[in-house]
Amino acid sequence: MFYIKTYYFRKKIHAMEKIQMVDLYNQYKKIQSEIDAGIADVIENTAFIKGPQVKAFESKLAEYMQVKHAVGCGNGTDALQIAMMALDLQPGDEVITTDFTFIATVEVIALLGLKPVLVDVSPETFLMDIHQVQQMITPQTKAIVPVHLFGQTADMEPLMKMAEGYNLYIIEDTAQAIGSDYTFKSGEQAKAGTIGHIGCTSFFPSKNLGCYGDGGALFTNDDALGEKIRSIVNHGSSKKYYHDRIGVNSRLDSIQAAVLNAKLPRLDDYNKARQRAADYYDSALSSCAHIMTPKRAEWSTHCFHQYTIRITNGKRDDLKKHLLDNGIPCAIYYPVPLHAQKAFEAYEHDDAFFPVSAMLKDEVLSLPMHTELSESQLNTITTTILEFF
Ligand SMILES: Cc1ncc(COP(=O)(O)O)c(C=O)c1O
Repeated sequence: MFYIKTYYFRKKIHAMEKIQMVDLYNQYKKIQSEIDAGIADVIENTAFIKGPQVKAFESKLAEYMQVKHAVGCGNGTDALQIAMMALDLQPGDEVITTDFTFIATVEVIALLGLKPVLVDVSPETFLMDIHQVQQMITPQTKAIVPVHLFGQTADMEPLMKMAEGYNLYIIEDTAQAIGSDYTFKSGEQAKAGTIGHIGCTSFFPSKNLGCYGDGGALFTNDDALGEKIRSIVNHGSSKKYYHDRIGVNSRLDSIQAAVLNAKLPRLDDYNKARQRAADYYDSALSSCAHIMTPKRAEWSTHCFHQYTIRITNGKRDDLKKHLLDNGIPCAIYYPVPLHAQKAFEAYEHDDAFFPVSAMLKDEVLSLPMHTELSESQLNTITTTILEFF
């Protein structure tokens, strides 16, 4: 019996020390009592939907983001869809976004019968190419969706000016950049997700602010939009069984809000831990001739949802294998740019228009990135990478 117990204990310790792409278990252990008490409270009070935890979280989140309205919803994909519904985008309207992002951004555009218009990205920051956005604006364009990919913001100030000039809406996809700050030319700062007309985020477990299931939120400083979003997430209703508009069922549930209430006050520290890991990677890897470490945009802080390098000598897949063979997880975000996805073949995007995303799909590699990475783990990861070259 004793043997069995110590065997499982050792096995667990080993599992805990293993380098992981995202380590949610060890993060949980540090705040276990708070999370467990929050979840127990929801169950004790059986306030599963629209409970006090959700209200408290929305108000603390709005305060953290320095935005007038933060409305919880079911997930980040729904947040984007709800934003487009709230802005009354109509079938046939064109929405410009990036070719190099998670499918959700473009999926909801197509789902609503809108036309996704994709632009290429910067090879250094992986962020939307603003000059191409300008070129793609037509009389049918109604909105632009900048994606704050991997943890830093798109260049919002010129985008906002462009939107103003053409009377377009900006919906920020800040699923990967919660907590990052954008700096305007004046020196003024704003949180990613609070600059455009509506900001959308995801609380998917591995996100910088992640819950223990699905969750998301929308942000706006516009009172009328805030009210409309609050109604759309809840069947278009503000009074039970009275429906003012077509809505959806997409509410943040109370158990997820309880988890988020424990994690939100720690978000800045979590992001700092990621930035420290990124600094370590930068200094260990940037001298290697075949590795391009991620460039930090001058206008944004970087909360490193992903630490993504480019392997420029054509050996990305070999390096990936080498790392996996040595027990080091890594991942390719994203292996197929959206213009080349089968799901979007009806839109007939031209390959030649996306030289950067076509190159990135063969070069990018994301390394383990989370709040619990130790210096010795970072050392193992970087030494194993350098060994390969
Ligand atoms: C850039 C981006 N947009 C949208 C989403 C969708 O969020 P969710 O998974 O919560 O629906 C994600 C999540 O992975 C994302 O990374």
